[in-house]
Amino acid sequence: MPNLLYRKNLISIADLNVNELQLLLDTALQLKQQPRDDLLAGKLIASCFFEPSTRTRLSFETAVQRLGGKVIGFSDGANTSAKKGETLADTARIISSYADAIIQRHPKDGAARVLAEFSQVPVINAGDGTNQHPSQTLLDLVTIYETQGSLKNLKIAMCGDLKYGRTVHSLAQALKLFDCEFAFVSPPSLAMPDYITQELDAHGTKWQILANLEDAIEWADILYMTRVQRERFDAEEFAKIQGKFNLHANLLTNAKANLRVLHPLPRVDEIAPDVDNTPYAYYFEQATNGVYARMAMLALLLNEHID
Ligand code: CP
Repeated sequence: MPNLLYRKNLISIADLNVNELQLLLDTALQLKQQPRDDLLAGKLIASCFFEPSTRTRLSFETAVQRLGGKVIGFSDGANTSAKKGETLADTARIISSYADAIIQRHPKDGAARVLAEFSQVPVINAGDGTNQHPSQTLLDLVTIYETQGSLKNLKIAMCGDLKYGRTVHSLAQALKLFDCEFAFVSPPSLAMPDYITQELDAHGTKWQILANLEDAIEWADILYMTRVQRERFDAEEFAKIQGKFNLHANLLTNAKANLRVLHPLPRVDEIAPDVDNTPYAYYFEQATNGVYARMAMLALLLNEHID
């Protein structure tokens, strides 16, 4: 297959077609099976994190180094000249004159697209505000494929903060291309945004809202949990929903054997520790797949051909 992604930016899952997603998925699975240490030889990658991160930053940096590349960057925007008022446009001009690609996490929606507009080198969005997190989606796809043997025609339940959770937006956009069905479980004020459900409708994708987690567990092949942040509610409102979107091992009694529970992490109390030892838990393996997914992104952006 030709490399459709060479020198492209990876800003939003919505920018990728099914062939490009398949190429990323195949490359990640191949790199997991057959590690390579030459695909970024001589390349310098800028890792620019204006927002906190554990998994995304460290798995990107692991991916670069394991593929033979080198990393420059920062993990706190407060230590950069953005603090003095430098624009993202100027930041892009400068960093892209140093590095062969830029990975950026930023608190503002749309920041990755602005950076890409002014960068001379490929940009990977490592999360921008509540908007998109495409590398998380790719590792989610790798994990779903690994656990289900296919991405086609799966039943995907998403639970928690579906309004502000950028991972569920990107994942729904990707999985609709593989004819999956969706069930959404969330407090009404944190429901999946209309622009996503409208995209699902336009694509002819089936979706439903379920009132409780137990119904979703019985129905699903994948249960994708996200965190409901206390600070989104006043105390009275939070008391009404507290615990309703938390998973405990005893809720999994009627799960299908193939159900796997995923979570982008970090978790707080939405997945109890007693779930970790059930056969359904797969969120730690999911985080490990971040290295291979991110290797695939970097390798494809920076190599015209991969032998
Ligand atoms: N899943 C995820 O984005 O984790 P980090 O915030 O730790 O990178």
